[in-house]
Amino acid sequence: MANIHILYGSTTGATEAAAQQLAALLGAEAKPIAAASPEDFEADLLILGSSTWGYGELQDDWAAGIALLDAIDLSGRKVAVFGTGDSVGFADTFANALGILADKAVERGATLVGQVPAVGYAAVESFAVRDGNFVGLALDDTNEAEQTPDRIAAWAKVLQAAI
Ligand SMILES: Cc1cc2nc3c(=O)[nH]c(=O)nc-3n(C[C@H](O)[C@H](O)[C@H](O)COP(=O)(O)O)c2cc1C
Repeated sequence: MANIHILYGSTTGATEAAAQQLAALLGAEAKPIAAASPEDFEADLLILGSSTWGYGELQDDWAAGIALLDAIDLSGRKVAVFGTGDSVGFADTFANALGILADKAVERGATLVGQVPAVGYAAVESFAVRDGNFVGLALDDTNEAEQTPDRIAAWAKVLQAAI
C-alpha cells in the first residue's frame, strides 16, 4: 500500500480540517509542519498544505518547513499541494501559498501531481493558477465552505489515480 504523508500549516484550523479529511479518505497520516522532521518527507506521495496569510504568503509555520525542504532532495517523489484561502477578501492573492509550495517542491526535484482546473471559483488572480489550473487543491472555507467536502473527495480520487 502506498505510503502517503500530509504535512500542513494552519493558523485557525481550516487547512488542518482539510488535512484530516484528506487523511481519512487516503488512509494517510497528517501532521502539522511545525512538528515535522526530515523523515516525514519520505513518502510515495507527499501532500503539502498551507493556508495563505499576509498578502499572498505561506502560513507562518512553513518558515521552518521551507528550511527543512531546502535540505531535502525530492527527486523521484510525487508531491501534491492544497490549502485554504479567501477568494473574495483576497481576490488578488487567493491561495497563493499553493503556488509557493508547488514551486519549492519542483525546485527540490519533485514531480507535481493533483492539479485542479480553476473553474467554479470566484477568484481570478492567484499565483497558484498556471495555464488555467490551480497547481493543487484550493479551498475557500470563508465563502464556499459548502463545496469543501466535495472538492476534497474529488481531489482524493485524482491523487489515488496519480500514485
Ligand atoms: C490577515 C489575513 C490575511 C489573509 N491573506 C490571505 C491571502 O492573501 N490570500 C488568501 O487566499 N486568503 C487570505 N486570508 C484568508 C485565510 O487564508 C483563510 O481564512 C484560511 O481559511 C485560513 O486557514 P487556516 O485556518 O488553515 O490558517 C487571510 C486572512 C487573514 C485574517
